[in-house]
Parts: sequence; C-alpha cells; structure tokens
Amino acid sequence: MTTLYEGAFAKINLTLDVLGKRDDGYHDLQSVMQTISIRDDVEIDIGTGKPWKLLCSVEGIPTDERNLAWKAAKVYCEAMGKDPNGIEIRITKRIPSEAGMGGGSADAAAVLRALNRYYGDPLSIFALAELGAQVGSDVPFCTLCGTAMVEGRGERLRKLPDMPDCVFVVCKPEFSVSTPELYRKLDTVSIAKHPDNRAMESALLAGDLGKVAENIWNVFDPVVTAEHLEMNYIKSIFNSYGAVAFQMTGSGSAVYAIMPSFEYAAVVCNMLKENYPQVYIAKPV
Ligand code: C5P
Repeated sequence: MTTLYEGAFAKINLTLDVLGKRDDGYHDLQSVMQTISIRDDVEIDIGTGKPWKLLCSVEGIPTDERNLAWKAAKVYCEAMGKDPNGIEIRITKRIPSEAGMGGGSADAAAVLRALNRYYGDPLSIFALAELGAQVGSDVPFCTLCGTAMVEGRGERLRKLPDMPDCVFVVCKPEFSVSTPELYRKLDTVSIAKHPDNRAMESALLAGDLGKVAENIWNVFDPVVTAEHLEMNYIKSIFNSYGAVAFQMTGSGSAVYAIMPSFEYAAVVCNMLKENYPQVYIAKPV
C-alpha cells in the first residue's frame, strides 16, 4: 500500500462573466480565477485491498460517490484503465463549504494530480484538467491552479501571469446560495455590468495590483447582494478598514477583499470575527 499526499487550494474569481445559456443547460463563462492559500489536505491510500472509502474531517459532507474527490478517483481510473485495488481518501477540510471557493472541486483536482503522479504522469496538466471537466465545472481550473482565464463551461483554460502578491481577507456568511438556482435567476435578469476581462488581463500582464483591483467584478454579486443585505454589511466593514477591492467569489456566499497590508488584514479579520466564525487571511498561490 502507498500513501499519496496532495494540497487542495481554494479559488476565488477575480472576474466572473456569464455570456449566455447553452443547449446543454450549462452557461458559457469567462472568468479570471486565482488559487489562494486556504487549503484542504488530501491523503490517498492506494492498494488497500479493501472497498473504496472516503473520510472527511468535518461533518455534513458526503463521504460516498457524491463526493467530487471520489468521483475524480473513479473518472481517473476508468479513463486510464487502472485498478488500484482499493482506495481510501482522507480529506482534512479547511476550505469553507458552499462558499464559491471550489472546495469540493479542489479536493477532486488534488486526487487527479496525486493519482496521475503515482502512475508516472501519463497525462499533462492540461489533459488532466480536461478529464476534470467530467467531475465538475470548477475542477479543470483547480487542477491547473495559479492565475488563469477560464472559459466555456469551465473546461477551457489559458494560463495568465501570476497575480501580483497581496493579502486577501475572505469572509463566509452563514447563509448559502444554490448555484443552479442562481444561474436560473441570472437568466431572468439583464446583466447591468459585465467585467472587462481584457483590462484584467492587461493589469495582470503589467503586474499592476491597483488595476487588478479596479477590474474585479462578478456578475453574480449584485444578484446575491440584492437578496442578502448582510453582504453590504461585510463589504462596509471591508471598506471602512481600507480594502482596495471587495467582491463575492463565484456563486457565493463568501466575500473577499484585497487589503493594503497584513496589518490591515489582521484588524479587519478580528473585526469580522465578532460576527462571523469563518474569516480567513490568505495570499495568492
Ligand atoms: O459543473 P457543476 O456541477 O459544478 O455545476 C453546478 C451547477 O452550476 C450546474 O448544475 C449548473 O446549474 C450550473 N452551471 C452552469 N454553467 C456553468 C457551470 C455551472 O449553468 N458553466
């Protein structure tokens, strides 16, 4: 039996645009995504000789075929014709769930990377990401990591220059948002403002954090904020403590801010912790 170890990094969306509904029911996206230093740890025992098993350090997360990490192991083994003779996956969870931070997708992506490494890297990182699309729309990016333009359903990836170093604070409110419902809602409204992805790309090319901050925009943010005024409270705290930019990530409900320094981040973090148990300081990775 061998044990594999792999980190699973959370993502945020610097931009998120929804271009339209597709015939398959999904939506075409254009999003600049970034991995951040909030991570789950994934351990995989391979060749246990026992039935497949998944364990998670927190309750309320499915530990069977519904878990994306399990699905990823199945998809990899089927696609590559591997029979690992028993797999046990253990996930130490730190990425908040139902936050729009791709927690489940990051675990799945970590499983793909670990299994591919174990079998001698038969798939390139982009081929592995493509396989990840069978598991979920965010899995391809979570496989690649770093900074990337993500298009199509989430499977078309283009690497971008690394985001300039900075400090994020992420706050996950108690409420959660159903992603399919949010997409359905967005179909019924006209999007008043789209992100300028070209400007975001130029800002990244120039390594200009101020311009990156200026171009942060997620089309889902106004839709969720209109229904959950609490989002405005979190943003107002970020604003009054000097945040350079703040925005909901993905389909929510976590909100992140770019803070001017670690000291400011620590202060706003303590402030938010009075009302929210799930507040984190992170860096781009
Ligand atoms: O692919 P995944 O299972 O993560 O997607 C969850 C839900 O989000 C889908 O069932 C769909 O309703 C919505 N979605 C979408 N278009 C995308 C990604 C997700 O409509 N590109």
